[in-house]
Amino acid sequence: MIIDGKKISTEIKDELKDQVAKLKAEGIEVTLAVVKVGEDPASAVYVRNKEKACEYIGINSKKIEVPEETTEEELLKLVDDLNTDPAINGILVQLPLPKHIDENKILLAIDPIKDVDGFHPVNVGKMVIGEESFLPCTPAGIIEMIKRSGLDIEGKECVIIGRSNIVGKPMAILMLRENATVTVTHSRTKDLPEVCKRADIIVAALGKAKFVTKDFVKEGAIIIDVGMDRDEDGKLCGDVDFDEVKDIASAITPVPGGVGPMTVTMLLVNCLRSVELNK
Ligand code: GUN
Repeated sequence: MIIDGKKISTEIKDELKDQVAKLKAEGIEVTLAVVKVGEDPASAVYVRNKEKACEYIGINSKKIEVPEETTEEELLKLVDDLNTDPAINGILVQLPLPKHIDENKILLAIDPIKDVDGFHPVNVGKMVIGEESFLPCTPAGIIEMIKRSGLDIEGKECVIIGRSNIVGKPMAILMLRENATVTVTHSRTKDLPEVCKRADIIVAALGKAKFVTKDFVKEGAIIIDVGMDRDEDGKLCGDVDFDEVKDIASAITPVPGGVGPMTVTMLLVNCLRSVELNK
């Protein structure tokens, strides 16, 4: 089975559209502020996709673009203004930020009740102990797409490749919350293909084109590809060698059209959740 992230995310967006219409009927507008610093080309694409998704379900997006030279103090001031603006429900600062700005400092400045990315330490902590919070969009989208494909997580061996704060680490926590047995692997892991071969579910989030080959995959495993890479011909591909792995896996996500659309959709889910929290 090819897990169609685009189709699943459209289903969810159509559900959200109805919720937005109901809020509008009550006189409630939802507004997401998206802050982009500098001219990173990948960030420009991600921000555009987020704006389009907001438009699709009928929520407002306020894009704030500031130049590469913006200082940390200026960005902190901007975040603070958005924190106190009652018309703003959710705040997203697109990462990565320029090198002279301390990313953690900026994420810490976002009011946790407007933190639709789920990156503030308060929300990360709540996620870890299982309290209601904003969940990071990519890992939350992966759980949602597995469930909506009718696949079980409970009791499964899940191997995650990559330990970033945005994907690998929160993915481990959310898989644990679903009662999977979780292994987190990284660049110093010994015998990575052997470890991955034990997995019923592999989540590849390391950022290397076609890194996961058939030598990593057990017959019937579920393969989730978080990669957004370019192959030797400059073509968009994932961290998984799709052609080599697709016939061994029982289910696999494509790139593009897999995890990517789910990430954007979970951001919209979080924006609607922020309306509840902001009340
Ligand atoms: N850069 C790459 N992924 C993300 C994300 O999910 N949120 C933000 N803010 N920046 C990102």
